[in-house]
Amino acid sequence: MKKILKKFYKNKSVLITGVTGFKGTWLCSWLLELGANVVGVGYNPNPNKNLFYKLNLNRKIKLNLFDIRNFSKLQKLVKKTKPSIIFHLAAQPLIYESYKKPLETFDINSRGTLNVLEVTRLNNFIKSVILVTSDKCYENNFSTRGFRENDRLGGVDPYSASKASAEIIAKAYKESFFKNKSVRGISTGRAGNVIGGGDWSPKRLIPDSIRCLVQGKPIFLRNPSFNRPWQLVLEPLKGYLILAMKQFKNPKKYSGAWNFGTEKNSITSVKKIVEYIIRFWGSGNLKINKKRKFYEQENLQLNIEKSKKVLKWKPTYNIKKSVQITVEWYLEVFINKKKPLNVTVNQINNYMHDSK
Ligand SMILES: NC(=O)c1ccc[n+]([C@@H]2O[C@H](COP(=O)([O-])OP(=O)(O)OC[C@H]3O[C@@H](n4cnc5c(N)ncnc54)[C@H](O)[C@@H]3O)[C@@H](O)[C@H]2O)c1
Repeated sequence: MKKILKKFYKNKSVLITGVTGFKGTWLCSWLLELGANVVGVGYNPNPNKNLFYKLNLNRKIKLNLFDIRNFSKLQKLVKKTKPSIIFHLAAQPLIYESYKKPLETFDINSRGTLNVLEVTRLNNFIKSVILVTSDKCYENNFSTRGFRENDRLGGVDPYSASKASAEIIAKAYKESFFKNKSVRGISTGRAGNVIGGGDWSPKRLIPDSIRCLVQGKPIFLRNPSFNRPWQLVLEPLKGYLILAMKQFKNPKKYSGAWNFGTEKNSITSVKKIVEYIIRFWGSGNLKINKKRKFYEQENLQLNIEKSKKVLKWKPTYNIKKSVQITVEWYLEVFINKKKPLNVTVNQINNYMHDSK
């Protein structure tokens, strides 16, 4: 797998928005490992806790800190750096935050997508664009077969609805401006909750759990029976990388909406995940917190048949292995005092090796 990706991405000019975020950092590390020239857009970073800065990526790429809603800055950057591929990840990505700041969430998530599409429309050197949305963009149909790409979009909370909006904007641009010019590939990638080393975001299961374990406190769970399509962060990123490569070469065939979820049998409850975390960490205990504050959709599942069949993408690890790798990252960095960059790059290379 490494050979194919390296052959394509080596010396390619790639723009990642949201590069300082959790997924952006892993994607950036991966692309640097493949020899790409990365330009990044981030905003409001926190250098003390942020993995991006811990890996010194700010010194390895051209980093630009501005608001993705600022069209003229984005346009100026794109004209200057001429990326042929864009991965758009910048977003307000938290459901609970979207209840506190609905206006900002809709604005960043929709306008950000709109701006990326507009710079793509105006600049012919951009050949392949991946817009990262979410599994939460679907309207809940209470079915157990998993959401398919052509299911109805919806979203009850502001975050989910903002991602559905981003999907609609992307489709309108594709239909209106890119349909008959089969020179640019434009796709949306829908993935579920990711886990992996180096995430310190508040109110996310793994970082919250690790924080408790490091401090010797019990892990409190909000919704222990919720099932989530947990996956290692590298799984959807592999999907984005394969998709960007394939639609670069054949935009007509590959442009569209794509689910990058887990195999059916790896949909797992929050409680089970924490039990795995404690097992791989070697100690700790969990408690159930009965207060439930916000609406969050239950039993989310993605149907990944299209990605498997057409893109030849599939998840590499099951959920147990994914939690193990995640916990190992924190153990290596915090207990064994290894350099976060080495641990991260090793995990990426092992993953490419195991993905075949
Ligand atoms: N983490 C998950 O489990 C998950 C699941 C499904 C979808 N996603 C999507 O993946 C993408 C990345 O998520 P993440 O977990 O890495 O989030 P994150 O919060 O770690 O990173 C978000 C990034 O977006 C940037 N950003 C935020 N507002 C911005 C603005 N106004 N202008 C420019 N940059 C801005 C931040 O600086 C950061 O670099 C998001 O689009 C998110 O909705 C994440």
